[in-house]
Amino acid sequence: MAEPVERIEPRQPPLMEKLVSLAKRRGFFFQSSEIYGGLQGFWDFGPLGVTLRNNVRRAWWRTMVELRDDVVGLESTLIMHPRTWVASGHVENFTDPLVECKTCHQRFRADHVRGRVHAEDGGEFTEPRRFNLMFKTFVGPAEDSSAQVYLRPETAQGQFVDFANVLNATRMRPPFGIAQMGKAFRNEITPGNSIFRLREFDLMEMEYFVPPAEEMRWLDYWKEERLRWHVSLGIRPDKLRLRAHSKDELAHYASGAFDVEYEFPFGWSELEGIAARGSYDLSAHQQASGRDLSYFDDLKRERYVPHVVEPAVGVDRVMLTLLIDAYREEEVRGEQRVVLRFHPSIAPVQVAVLPLSRKEQLIETAKRVEHELRPYFRTEYDDTQSIGKRYRRQDEIGTPYAVTVDFETAQDQGVTIRSRDEMTQVRVPISGLRQAMADRLP
Ligand code: GAP
Repeated sequence: MAEPVERIEPRQPPLMEKLVSLAKRRGFFFQSSEIYGGLQGFWDFGPLGVTLRNNVRRAWWRTMVELRDDVVGLESTLIMHPRTWVASGHVENFTDPLVECKTCHQRFRADHVRGRVHAEDGGEFTEPRRFNLMFKTFVGPAEDSSAQVYLRPETAQGQFVDFANVLNATRMRPPFGIAQMGKAFRNEITPGNSIFRLREFDLMEMEYFVPPAEEMRWLDYWKEERLRWHVSLGIRPDKLRLRAHSKDELAHYASGAFDVEYEFPFGWSELEGIAARGSYDLSAHQQASGRDLSYFDDLKRERYVPHVVEPAVGVDRVMLTLLIDAYREEEVRGEQRVVLRFHPSIAPVQVAVLPLSRKEQLIETAKRVEHELRPYFRTEYDDTQSIGKRYRRQDEIGTPYAVTVDFETAQDQGVTIRSRDEMTQVRVPISGLRQAMADRLP
């Protein structure tokens, strides 16, 4: 069995440490199987994490599928016919160069270690060998090579293998796209930076099929669109940039590519990849399966294998980016507070309803108010701890508004709306609260 024990990660930048601690304390994410010592590269998502991830997925699907008339959805299996991965080139090429320290036998990605000596114990590295990143398992009871399959390392092959089925079912014509969200698995040699590089992660990928001559134009189009999407989630634009891949870093299937990069605490790194895959995948599957995966354009009377432009981004990496980008330590009236300035559209809780004290009458009213808001916004009711501590918790989980029911409420039928960012408090009648929240929340 592979060693399931967590290796101690190199010291993280302080912001990452604080964020990982907040994520665990408040229930965004924590290590998988932690009570058994954790499993490196696998993380679980707690109650707030699940909501944040669902908000990210919903925002992506809305932008990429529902608000367009040229993209349709797909959900293909995690385990596909193994010939898929031979044809796609993953069996041959989806590898990283691996070296091992001859003294301590720790393994590293060759391009991640500088020099020929492992600094911690002076051990020399072995020569690099190619290590395939796909997880293997077996279908059925016989564990032999004929039953061996792979856990998908990307969702995209589903779009390619199902291309003709989708085309026939929808009568779409290029340029058009097929979008899919779902789990992907990569046996990364060096997972790390909390949820930045995982072995099990969530992908959101759209394969956009275009006439061959239009590929570069669409690559240009999609890189701008995707940059805009990240800004729409509230990410600060000056922390984002587009970077073109140089020839030697292109994936085995790509003819051109851009990364949307974010300035993480550990440096500028890939947030999203946008690749021009040419006709690489469709042609490969056409040849390997013997099925016709070309498209006949009946207006121009020409047949071609469409080229593909692919924006691909991980839910986990978007989640990490949102957390890092929103994190602030502020001093307000002499007091320190930690606040996540989430955009209200993705904040796990949009409105917290808090009775000022645990007096029965206040609790009753606050619960009623929360129930009235619940169908329209993501709400939470909380009557634990002092009001100060509850405000601090809501700041830390990024709730943009808190509604407080206090001792005046019985007299004036009013409540106070506290804004996370402006720290202002406004009194509104309960009868107008829903509208007041709708005016503030997207
Ligand atoms: N189908 C293309 C593809 O998979 P990629 O650049 O390897 O391209 C796309 O991955 C995106 O998926 C990355 O930009 C990142 O957001 C996310 N991603 C890739 N590997 C990941 C990993 N090991 N852990 C978490 N997210 C990952």
